[in-house]
Amino acid sequence: IMDMGHPEYGGGPSHAGMHHGGASVAALTGPREGPADVSVTLVARAERITLPDGRAMAGYTLNHASPGPEIRARQGQLVEVRLVNESVSGGVTLHWHGYDVPNAEDGVAGVTQDAVAPGREHVYRFVAADAGTYWYHSHQVSHEQVRLGLFGALVVTPADAPADALALVHTYAGRRTIGGRPGVTAVPAEPGATVRVRVVNTDQGTMRAWVSGAPYRVVAVDGHDVASPPPVTSAALVLAAGGRADLEVTVPTAGGAVRVDVGAGTALVVGSSAAAAPAAPEPRATVDLLSYGSPAPLGFDPAAATRRFEYRIGRRPGFLDGRPGMWWTINGRLYPDVPMFMVDRGDVVRMTIANDSGEAHPMHLHGHHAVVLSRNGVAATGSPWWTDSLEVADGETYETAFVADNPGVWVDHCHNLAHATEGLLAHLAYT
Ligand code: C2O
Ligand code: CU
Repeated sequence: IMDMGHPEYGGGPSHAGMHHGGASVAALTGPREGPADVSVTLVARAERITLPDGRAMAGYTLNHASPGPEIRARQGQLVEVRLVNESVSGGVTLHWHGYDVPNAEDGVAGVTQDAVAPGREHVYRFVAADAGTYWYHSHQVSHEQVRLGLFGALVVTPADAPADALALVHTYAGRRTIGGRPGVTAVPAEPGATVRVRVVNTDQGTMRAWVSGAPYRVVAVDGHDVASPPPVTSAALVLAAGGRADLEVTVPTAGGAVRVDVGAGTALVVGSSAAAAPAAPEPRATVDLLSYGSPAPLGFDPAAATRRFEYRIGRRPGFLDGRPGMWWTINGRLYPDVPMFMVDRGDVVRMTIANDSGEAHPMHLHGHHAVVLSRNGVAATGSPWWTDSLEVADGETYETAFVADNPGVWVDHCHNLAHATEGLLAHLAYT
């Protein structure tokens, strides 16, 4: 076991320059040369923020706002983000949640870089190779820094996409917002218009989204399109912490509006008037992504796996950093005494995630997208369910698979971020 320090408290030396077997440095960093197509500066500050209910509290901002600015790029563009830490005393980083960037751009303090100290800056550069809905957040003491404001949306659109897509970000700790605004946000749209609503769950627990006024389709999950055409549904969608979904809603041709609720009193209304879309009760039925949509090829053969791993989540008393307590365990062991999952580049990896810990865990793998093969022994039959943020309820077992195609050292942790500090974090490393 290498001593990596704790990724949640990455003050110490990072391992960005460590030896990664045969991987070249170019495979680990984004392009360093050439002008960026999208260039953003984000200044992190500790300051008072005003909550949606009008109260003020001490928090963190990016460019004086929380959430920070939505970063938009077109597929294929080179994105450059300059992170300046003006006054966050614990240091900050930026992690591109769900975006499979080169390892050195991943923003994990203590693993891929040192936290950026006050008065310092760090430049991230990566090609926006994949279209979809993602988000960014600090990955230094993230269980505090995300809750206190250091996050925003990252949206990459196909080069030919209409520009009418919306980003919807819901804030942490029960204070839900639409792009930072509380309550009901109206988006004018003509009768018959189709609009893509991007839902990002930045909370630490699950979030439900439901649509009233017209049926809708789930057109993308965790940044990946559902094989088309996805079926229309009126069931609610449950998003894991860190997860995203794109919902396609169509304003009735007779007029009126479609309403997307994301929690008590927080909604987006698309159509002619917000008054035309009263709140509807949350449906009991939920969309099951295991069987949603029509099947499509995966692009690799999970039956030809060259690595098989188990990630069994439990809980037991013990000591973590000398502190006694009840801690989460991985395969019975307490972090950091958890062996790294070692892969070779090109491996087809099967990962069984089993949870017998008494609580649900939204599991997040960095740098890769995994496909869900089965849940509790029931095989997936729908559109390939690609995920980077998978809710694993107590007692559940998921079988997943991914291709090891992004060399480096990555973390695979619970996105109920306090749990990551309580042991629920492992490393995936390339030999
Ligand atoms: Cu959204 Cu390791 O984080
Ligand atoms: Cu957890």
